[in-house]
Amino acid sequence: MRAVVVGGGASGRAIGAAIAARGWAVQLSSRRTGFDVLRDDVVAALNGADVVVEATGRFTTGRRRATDFFVRSTTAVGSAAAAVGARHVLLSIVGCERPEVQGYGYFAGKAAQERAAATTGAELSVVRSTQWHEFAEQNAGRFRVGRFVLVPGMTVAPVALETVAAVVGDVVTGKRSGRRVEVAGPQVTTLRAMTEALPDPAGRIVPVRLPGALGRAFRDGALLPGPEAEIVGPSFDEWVAVPAAH
Ligand SMILES: NC(=O)c1ccc[n+]([C@@H]2O[C@H](COP(=O)([O-])OP(=O)(O)OC[C@H]3O[C@@H](n4cnc5c(N)ncnc54)[C@H](OP(=O)(O)O)[C@@H]3O)[C@@H](O)[C@H]2O)c1
Repeated sequence: MRAVVVGGGASGRAIGAAIAARGWAVQLSSRRTGFDVLRDDVVAALNGADVVVEATGRFTTGRRRATDFFVRSTTAVGSAAAAVGARHVLLSIVGCERPEVQGYGYFAGKAAQERAAATTGAELSVVRSTQWHEFAEQNAGRFRVGRFVLVPGMTVAPVALETVAAVVGDVVTGKRSGRRVEVAGPQVTTLRAMTEALPDPAGRIVPVRLPGALGRAFRDGALLPGPEAEIVGPSFDEWVAVPAAH
């Protein structure tokens, strides 16, 4: 059996390793391997695949740019999966559809992606997680201004990417089923506390109080999981204490 993971970076590698550990052949396809999901022939790229995992991302806070990228990516992947008879497994984010976070363009894009993915004709599983433990470092890279790292007020229940990858591996290989799976970590914390705990936050941390209803929603827990989410360790504190894990 064979899976294709569309999307590179840390998530693609972790998911690829989890699928391989379950005995499947797996191929990672992203621009660094010469495959652009927005431009290239996705049907040809999925030829022979039983499952395709969509783990692409483009970081932007703009609603139009995020929606354009995520909808185009998922339409291309889902339609090609339907054409070759592969299942489509989409990575998404707990709470991205909640009305109070739609003012954040990235989440509006992810919510639009989930809706579009449901219409391509492929058999779809959406694996949603909360922010990964690795998110603090991602955020520090994205919002670094000179010597400063801007950290928005955000209450989160982060989960290890490796744990999410294992869940994706089980969904891909049929060890677990479900059209929607939600996973979250066991510890409720803040993005600021996560960033402060990093061995090298890459700059001086500057907490940012986002204004308005969106800022309040982020601080008040709009990204926390609901009762349907499965809670899986390790906690962020356990993870960050083991340097080899990250
Ligand atoms: N980060 C989190 O905490 C988190 C939590 C829950 C869910 N998610 C979701 O999981 C997914 C992956 O997240 P991430 O943080 O790993 O995203 P990311 O780092 O922003 O992007 C993942 C990969 O997408 C690939 N990519 C971008 N444009 C592409 C294109 N046109 N064609 C092919 N590949 C392309 C890139 O690889 P190349 O440069 O090689 O093309 C990149 O490494 C996203 O949908 C995200 O919303 C993330």
